[in-house]
Amino acid sequence: MQKIVSLSKRRGFVFQSSEIYGGVEGLWDLGPLGALIKNNLRNFWIKRFILEEDSIVFIEGTCLMHPKVWEASGHLEHFTDPLVECKNCHSRFRADHMVDDRFIGQGKAKEKNQCPNCGEKEFTPPRMFNLLFKTFLGPVEDKTNLTYLRPETAQSMFTNFQNVLNSARLKIPFGIAQIGRSFRNEITLGDFIFRSREFDIAEIEYFVEPGQDEKLFEVWIGKWEKFFLDLGLQKKNLRRFEHPKESLAHYSKRTVDIEYKFPFGWSELAGVANRTDYDLKKHSQFSGQDLRYYDEENKKKYFPYVIEPTMGLERAILAILCDAYQEIKGGRTKTTKPTKEVEILLKLDKKIAPIKVAVLPLVRNKPELVKKAKEVYQMLKPHFVCQYDELGSIGRRYRRQDEIATIFCLTCDFQTLEDDTLTIRNRDTMKQERIKIKDLIEILREKLEN
Ligand code: GAP
Repeated sequence: MQKIVSLSKRRGFVFQSSEIYGGVEGLWDLGPLGALIKNNLRNFWIKRFILEEDSIVFIEGTCLMHPKVWEASGHLEHFTDPLVECKNCHSRFRADHMVDDRFIGQGKAKEKNQCPNCGEKEFTPPRMFNLLFKTFLGPVEDKTNLTYLRPETAQSMFTNFQNVLNSARLKIPFGIAQIGRSFRNEITLGDFIFRSREFDIAEIEYFVEPGQDEKLFEVWIGKWEKFFLDLGLQKKNLRRFEHPKESLAHYSKRTVDIEYKFPFGWSELAGVANRTDYDLKKHSQFSGQDLRYYDEENKKKYFPYVIEPTMGLERAILAILCDAYQEIKGGRTKTTKPTKEVEILLKLDKKIAPIKVAVLPLVRNKPELVKKAKEVYQMLKPHFVCQYDELGSIGRRYRRQDEIATIFCLTCDFQTLEDDTLTIRNRDTMKQERIKIKDLIEILREKLEN
């Protein structure tokens, strides 16, 4: 994990938020490359679940909502974790995290139930801590203006159920989807961007007829798993986890997590929950609005059941980075003397890689070569995410690009000046072909999009 953290900072995937002030626990910024990866991930999710699916529509709700929403949804009552405090140093932890093995080896914790901060084993009895962030609407900070930052995007898809149904003229089964910021005042942090206090969730509320829910639940687990395999994650690093009844969220009839084998062990990457008719019923009750669906064919009204596939984008980015990270001792190059250091290769899927093409002049002290490479770079920029790099030896530049997952390196060399061709190097095979500059856009499009 330390290697991923260090690569992320060095190459601009992830930075600690407010680092110049010492940082804030559980808050992370995406750097230039991380922001591009997230955009690619978001686009792939939208393509797969909104554009290619029938009857799933996209909305964008607000992060602040009416406080009643959180009363109705059960978050005010149930969105809690058990908190314990070390009696010696007053550090606070999630009680369930003290009795599993996650802190062992961290700081002063050598065994379960030992404070990683001071090594003591005496804790206060657990008390329930609500993870909602509180804030006030308007200038007066009193009880009547109190509201909360949303901890999930789901609720605006329930509160807008009738709006979407009426405006988009949908028939069950159909889905409402959203990607958006979510906030949780988590007690135990750590593990880099795995668990943060602010992150993006991508989720779908798929409304189905009661009785069809169990069958469609299975369908959605399959679709969700395929999504992660198509993102390029290795099958051996993915597995299902069926939540036992006692660990289900207050709204869930069944939840299956898709777990990923992170460097710190198997943990939840994403999930599918059967939320039943819990949310629509509760919002009907609290708002006084009828949120039932009218089935025209059978002339009946009912509260639909909801299947909810969900994932945290930053958590998915962490899995993607861990899965793609490779170290090659002595380097991959066999044509030149192997370097002593370890070479890093980030084998991200081409859909997800932040930079698709790097354009490099063979040397930077030949103005004609630099001019040609810059022309190629300008020509490609409107079509692909490109980088221009002329600093250091060509081998070093290839390695720098391998480290950030760039799919192709294009090199302008002396032959380029004679016949308008250049070499294209494949990140994974390191094979180089010579191609004509006039065919470049078409060839790259073919290689990157097919
Ligand atoms: N609407 C359902 C829901 O929010 P969840 O399992 O609590 O379900 C959804 O969260 C996803 O968000 C998880 O599968 C996980 O990927 C991600 N996630 C949850 N808590 C997170 C946190 N503190 N930091 C980063 N990602 C988190």
